[in-house]
Amino acid sequence: MSDNIMNYETVDLDDAKSALVILNQTKLPNEIEALSLTEQKDIWNAIYLLQVRGAPAIGVAAAIGVYLAAKAIDTPVFDEFYTRFKAAKDYLASSRPTAVNLFWALDRMEKVVLNNKSLPIARIKSLLHDEAINIKEEDIRVCRAIGEYGLILIKDGDGILTHCNAGQLATAKYGTALAPVHIGHEKGYRFKVFTDETRPLLQGARLSAFELHSHGIDTTVICDNMASQVMKNGWVQAIFVGCDRVAANGDACNKIGTSGVAILAKYYGIPFYVCAPTSTIDMSIEKGEDIPIEERPAHEVTEMWYKKRMAPEGVKVYNPAFDFADNELITAIITEYGIARPPYTESLREIFAKKI
Ligand code: MRU
Repeated sequence: MSDNIMNYETVDLDDAKSALVILNQTKLPNEIEALSLTEQKDIWNAIYLLQVRGAPAIGVAAAIGVYLAAKAIDTPVFDEFYTRFKAAKDYLASSRPTAVNLFWALDRMEKVVLNNKSLPIARIKSLLHDEAINIKEEDIRVCRAIGEYGLILIKDGDGILTHCNAGQLATAKYGTALAPVHIGHEKGYRFKVFTDETRPLLQGARLSAFELHSHGIDTTVICDNMASQVMKNGWVQAIFVGCDRVAANGDACNKIGTSGVAILAKYYGIPFYVCAPTSTIDMSIEKGEDIPIEERPAHEVTEMWYKKRMAPEGVKVYNPAFDFADNELITAIITEYGIARPPYTESLREIFAKKI
């Protein structure tokens, strides 16, 4: 098997085994391990533990997960089927709070059930199967379109900085923030990519660097506190990040540290682009402050990646998994329907109008 991660499926459905198949991202870059998950608690854990992660990939995993739950419900009675489906949906929805794709995908699956009440249960299960596959295939088309739009904004030889992993590993294919890089690379562009290591869970060092390097792209890992120096050196012509939820005013919530990168970009006059599938834009949320921010356990900061503890026993730890870049720091938001520019309250509404 090739080491190029672009040849692997991040998240998939194995019909024969009734399993969600994921690349275990907690093992990368040292081991390429596929996990085949059939139990709902294992699917919940896979999302919570970041074995599958990144907003779009979480959405696809949840859609497949809730389909598998529905497939196992053994009743011909709709009301009973729906009650059990809803319990499975709510369970998976409780795995992580910030990435709106989780709720977006589960809501889409629920609509399939509610819109087809009069059909036999076996037919509803088959429609749920098709919707889960649609959500995955749509994600591939959406990421490709984001990549093509993003590529318009950069040129051959550019230095690009990214934070966290919004690449193939975070989606069904290509990624969002890394899609312009992957697609450009395939067209012969030579980019130099700087990946923030992204403390505390190291999605930049472990995942983005692995993904880009395995695809033959010039990649340099930096610690998060080196981003300013790299920008000051003039090595970065554009910053691309993904997002977990964008508010209607354009405030873009992404991996903790994104806000700092956006502030640095403004200071150094470097364009700061947020790549956002419309499935990650939550028009029901007015502003960034209203986005629920996940807080994760202390051991991720103090112990998880070290042989020995790196902070004193009993010390307080604050470990928010996300922050948001204020809309005024964002040069453009790149969606599958085109590039939105400030003021985002208007341009995002125009993007959604194109969807209909
Ligand atoms: O905690 P994670 O690793 O799921 O956080 C992921 C990110 O912050 C990504 O940048 C975001 O989900 C966009 S993925 C295309």
